[in-house]
Amino acid sequence: MASAHALRWFNDARFGMFIHWGLYSVLARHEWTMYQEEIPNDEYARLADRFTAARYSPDDWVALAQDTGMRYMILTSRHHEGFALWDSKVSNFTAPNSAAGRDVLAEFVAACQKRRMPYGFYYSLLDWRWPEYFRGPQADPDGWARFRAYVHAQVEELCTDYGELAVLWYDGGWPYTPEAWDSAALNARVRELQPNILINDRSLLPEDFDTPEQHVTASPPGRPWESCMTMNTTWGYSTIDHEWRTPRQLIHFLVTAAAGGGNYLLNVGPEPDGHIPFESVERLRAMGAWMRVNSESIYGSERMPDRLMRVGSVGRHHTIKGNTLYLHCWRWPGREMVLGNLDGTLLSARFLYDGTPIDFDQRQNRIWLRDLPAFAPDPIDTVIALDFDRRPGLRDRFG
Ligand code: GLC
Repeated sequence: MASAHALRWFNDARFGMFIHWGLYSVLARHEWTMYQEEIPNDEYARLADRFTAARYSPDDWVALAQDTGMRYMILTSRHHEGFALWDSKVSNFTAPNSAAGRDVLAEFVAACQKRRMPYGFYYSLLDWRWPEYFRGPQADPDGWARFRAYVHAQVEELCTDYGELAVLWYDGGWPYTPEAWDSAALNARVRELQPNILINDRSLLPEDFDTPEQHVTASPPGRPWESCMTMNTTWGYSTIDHEWRTPRQLIHFLVTAAAGGGNYLLNVGPEPDGHIPFESVERLRAMGAWMRVNSESIYGSERMPDRLMRVGSVGRHHTIKGNTLYLHCWRWPGREMVLGNLDGTLLSARFLYDGTPIDFDQRQNRIWLRDLPAFAPDPIDTVIALDFDRRPGLRDRFG
């Protein structure tokens, strides 16, 4: 069971950075390239000579995340390819044995600790270099037991040698069962070592939070969740993927997650030298500029009842905290705006970016905001904070 303290932290944080960095970054096509192109282990291992980490500056990674308003960071300690970013004792296929020549995970941890940035590790249960993984527990029980012992040992290392982890972000349990991985025992051990950790749902047990991937879909009320998403369409660094989402889209996804009471984990894929691509930095800077004046509407947001979202016609997803409704205007109607269906008496209205009060008028459940600028102050999302005398609700127009 997750600690109440950890769950509160997670619910408050709302926005995190995901980092996919490994040998696939050298190939720069997709983090699944080893599998997709059936690259044999020995050929793949040679990529380690080109994993230099020459421009790796974890301090700058953390600073970038902080400037973006992100409140935690998750780094791929080992992806499906099997390459460990740390000095694993149960594998030779590690960053210290690559061109980088050092434990880059330890450097990441030190940078996070220095700047008080909560951090966690992604860890892939599966490892494509092990034929035992493909043969599976049924066909090769002894081989599977050896493979599983290696996986458990690595998780143990990650939970022992790298300080206090906020999150353990498993992946790659397919196509087996939690029994095959012995996930229950593994996670019990993880919690022994890290009492404040949160564990995601990908050891194939539900544990602490759900992980919708590449879409923002709220879990049932009461169940914590986090949408993970890329800025283009691949997680690892890619020179051939040019399908970048716009800052506008990314901010709207973040707002949608916060409106549903969930988190948004946005990915960057650094180059093999550790440099974060310009396209990603550009997007993070734009999000940071928006967050600097609007983060109050994101951190610690409460889950909106779905029906409450039909408030006027300026946007689809709004956020709520206590008695304040944060109206996210993705569209701008001009000098006057009308809101409907709201229960509660409006006490004040203000622009979140500078606190300027807004003239308003309320008649029953309809609210008029007046003397607004003719053009959207922030064409991406102008946030208006509406303070009510109680938690604003949706007027029940049925029955
Ligand atoms: C998928 C992919 C993987 C990626 C992960 C992130 O499971 O296999 O490449 O790391 O999702 O959510």
